[in-house]
Amino acid sequence: MSLVVIHPAPDAAWADLRLDGVLRYALEERETHTLRRAEELEGLEGSTLLFVLPLGEAGINLEYTRMLLRLRTRPHLLQGCTAGIIVDGAGELYTKSAAAELALALNRSGCALPGRPLVEGTGSLANFAVQAKNLGTDLMGAYRAAARELVERLERERFPRRVRPKLLVLHASSHHTSNTMDLWSRAKESLKDCCDIREIGLRNGTLSDCSGCPYTMCLHFGERGGCFYGGVMQEEVYPAVREADALVLLCPNYNDALSANLTAFINRLTALFRQTRFYDKAVFALVVSGYSGGDILARQVISAMNMNKSFYLPPHFALVETANFPGQALALPGIEERLEGFSRNIRNALLAR
Ligand SMILES: Cc1cc2nc3c(=O)[nH]c(=O)nc-3n(C[C@H](O)[C@H](O)[C@H](O)COP(=O)(O)O)c2cc1C
Repeated sequence: MSLVVIHPAPDAAWADLRLDGVLRYALEERETHTLRRAEELEGLEGSTLLFVLPLGEAGINLEYTRMLLRLRTRPHLLQGCTAGIIVDGAGELYTKSAAAELALALNRSGCALPGRPLVEGTGSLANFAVQAKNLGTDLMGAYRAAARELVERLERERFPRRVRPKLLVLHASSHHTSNTMDLWSRAKESLKDCCDIREIGLRNGTLSDCSGCPYTMCLHFGERGGCFYGGVMQEEVYPAVREADALVLLCPNYNDALSANLTAFINRLTALFRQTRFYDKAVFALVVSGYSGGDILARQVISAMNMNKSFYLPPHFALVETANFPGQALALPGIEERLEGFSRNIRNALLAR
């Protein structure tokens, strides 16, 4: 099947020069079809996509902005697609934030992302220092190799389905008053017949944040199935993650970010990540804000769990709601349909057909 390359033309032609070279190498001898304008994003359902984004110095691409508009206003435009992303910048900023924004828009229009879907070229390519050293090449060599490897993975990888998937649900909320927990309790009702569900509460005081051990020390503890700090993470959470087919993160908005406990969990996953990749595990999220900002948390989950920690991002991975007072979430207009949609997305992504 031919790969569809979505490559919005940059505002200034020079912003494409480096990227063109990387693409020539990554796509060598491949059948591809390239789309450069927003209006061309049509009839793509079920395709394998490579979204290539030249950002220039200021992190802006006007044709891309027009594509973003199209993605955000058509929730099924990319139904059944899988995408990888290459973002190229002329400066040191904006590449990662633009990629996370794009990933969320792709996902909300029905597109899945494999674990580690992003190849990012900052202006200096300093972000490739470690990979270049490991490969024994220079920064540009590492960039080109990463782009080619992404294309190969897009062609090869398929997320495995299960007869009875194991869901691990992680939360850090008070059961009695939490809107996030209320929504999850309802979603659980329509999932418990087809999935094995395990819930773990990461409550205050049970989890220390990552201490940022040197790489070799982290690797040393990780290889023994643990981490410098041990505790509930080592005894309960790591084994549960290893066993799970998918994680469901329950994410109340705390100061426009994931709560400290959930963030500590993700940071501490690093020790496990050192010895294993999570490409065959999916991540879902249920996000609730009192006022606004749910997209920021959804992006944070994508950056941390999908882009960094390699979890598969299924289409429409997050239910994102706004509710403040206790009980308000379950009274939102249309919430039953959206909850059913969320449960259906989990079933569709995980269950063997
Ligand atoms: C420490 C703290 C910080 C919060 N910060 C925000 C915020 O930045 N933006 C927002 O929309 N809501 C914020 N909220 C409100 C929660 O997101 C809101 O209560 C929502 O219902 C989810 O939390 P719950 O599951 O505990 O009910 C905050 C709540 C707490 C306790």
